[in-house]
Amino acid sequence: MDFKSNIIVEKLPKHIAIIMDGNGRWAKNQGLLRVKGHERGTKAVRDTVEGCAELGVKNLTLYAFSTENWNRPKLEVQTLMKLLVSSLKKEIKTLQENKIKLQAIGCIENLPSKARKELSEVMSKTARNTHMTLTLALSYGSREEIIQVVKKISDKVKNNIIDSESIDESTINKHLYTQNLPDVDMMIRTSGEQRISNFLLWQMAYAELYFTDVLWPDFRKENLFEAIYEYQKRERRFGKTSEQL
Ligand code: FPP
Repeated sequence: MDFKSNIIVEKLPKHIAIIMDGNGRWAKNQGLLRVKGHERGTKAVRDTVEGCAELGVKNLTLYAFSTENWNRPKLEVQTLMKLLVSSLKKEIKTLQENKIKLQAIGCIENLPSKARKELSEVMSKTARNTHMTLTLALSYGSREEIIQVVKKISDKVKNNIIDSESIDESTINKHLYTQNLPDVDMMIRTSGEQRISNFLLWQMAYAELYFTDVLWPDFRKENLFEAIYEYQKRERRFGKTSEQL
């Protein structure tokens, strides 16, 4: 089936978040080292970003490195950081051509200096692009993000900048790393695992979850289009009845 031509542009998800899983298993299946799986994963990143830009999806957030990923073997962590730097160098042109703004969320200060430097360069060069926002979650953990929010808000309450009685959802939204992004409409996880693994917990409150057995290095535009097609078939009720919609 040609999923792309069956996608209704007016009903596109405004924000897609992806847990790119299965790089290690892909490599193992091919008899290769795990790091080769990550290398191949960058192709899937490129294809997915292109697919979103083609359709007009405004926001794409990729879980590229979790706070827990620091516990992986040193060589693997180093490879992931190197891949990040080389991909940023390589893709800046495509980001500019497609008017994509790049931003990063997470404990960015924990990344190696080379990665921070490259990131901040690409972020400032693409800051004025408006076609799409690509957010990389790096050294990211959602509970940690929420802890930061609580600390920032309680500081403001202490200093009489915020009245605790006035705290509502929008107060929380404004203090999250994702303050400039809408809620996640659809979360995709590859490789057959069905978990959300500490990713955008607050932002995903009403997200449609889409799980596929495809391993991340094999994920292509067509898989993305299928996921969006599937999303458009679902009825999002936000707690209401079908009749009320
Ligand atoms: C999960 O697969 C994947 C990651 C931890 C890293 C994702 C990184 C990339 C796709 C490449 C670099 C990204 C950018 C944005 C340039 P896994 O290793 O957990 O796979 P497994 O579960 O099969 O072991």
